[in-house]
Amino acid sequence: MRAIISGVGHYSPERKLTNKELEKMVDTNDEWITVRTGIKERAILDPEKGTSYMATRAAKMACDQAGVPPEEIELIILATITPDMMVPSAAAIVQKELGADHCWGYDLNGGCTGFIYALATGCQFIETGKYRNALLIGADKMSAIINYEDRNTCVIFGDAAGAVLLEPGADDARGIVDFDLHMDGVGVEYLNVLGGGSRHPATMDTVKKKMHYVYQDGKTVFKYAVKGMSTVSETLLRRNGLTGRDLDHLVPHQANFRIIDAVGKKLGLTPEQIVVNIEKYGNTTAATIPLAMSEAHQEHRFKKDDWILLTAFGAGFTWGSVLLKWAI
Ligand code: UT7
Repeated sequence: MRAIISGVGHYSPERKLTNKELEKMVDTNDEWITVRTGIKERAILDPEKGTSYMATRAAKMACDQAGVPPEEIELIILATITPDMMVPSAAAIVQKELGADHCWGYDLNGGCTGFIYALATGCQFIETGKYRNALLIGADKMSAIINYEDRNTCVIFGDAAGAVLLEPGADDARGIVDFDLHMDGVGVEYLNVLGGGSRHPATMDTVKKKMHYVYQDGKTVFKYAVKGMSTVSETLLRRNGLTGRDLDHLVPHQANFRIIDAVGKKLGLTPEQIVVNIEKYGNTTAATIPLAMSEAHQEHRFKKDDWILLTAFGAGFTWGSVLLKWAI
């Protein structure tokens, strides 16, 4: 028996931060950001709200769409690198806010690959027959860990949440077909937030040194991302007797349009096969893939039985792909 996605949802804050506004904050310009990244604007959550606020709303939309009331949810996995607080998990806050009174759950830190890791993990609980559903959320309030004086990072990231509900499919015809996941700690030095953890607990000094903000060596991450996402996607397609031509949609992590374009070309895809919404949201870390899926579904772009490939790359490094047949 396969796990199918029976509902999908997303949440994007109302407040938009445009390239023009960023021009007034750091030494950058709309043309550079557009040409180098494909991003025009990103959404920013109210400072006093946490990631769980967005996650709860995306989750509610996915549950409503699937017709499963929150009290019937059995498992919540929340992929995030920006939980509301160090302890407890943001998943626990979402559980309470949703009124999902009969479940367990946890946060999962897989960087930008977090949602792919959550999907691969969640479907195990369904395929074994142990659980009747699993709510998988990717959500990040990146504005909480971005230095708006650092033009290397502040132009890229935004805040959002996306969610899917997994349930057992009636047969093996549709659902999560296969996945391939990877991790390599070589990435620790290229993409990190050094402060606030157990190695460098928050002190006046860590704050002064801005260690609570994201550091990224963009050029190095870019190269690893193109190689990681295209290699793992090719492996997954080959293993399942498919080529790029058989795919109806590629939903890639939205980190940089040039990365998406390079991966698409390596897989031999046309632009029509690739779901891209980076211009409106920027890089929302664990949220990009469920957000793009939810929007594409809302726009009636996905049809029942479509072959869909999801792929992501992120901090760790982590990377992976999931192959599925759309079921709703
Ligand atoms: O989601 C997790 C994984 N993350 C990623 O996949 C992100 C991967 N990396 C990237 O997307 C890109 O590397 C960036 C968007 C971060 C940077 O783009 P780039 O084409 O790699 O630019 P660069 O860092 O090589 O910089 C090129 C030039 C430099 O100037 P010089 O040395 O050529 O004079 C930078 O100082 O652009 C300059 N620059 C900027 N100029 C205007 C860097 N950032 C900016 C900026 N505005 N925001």
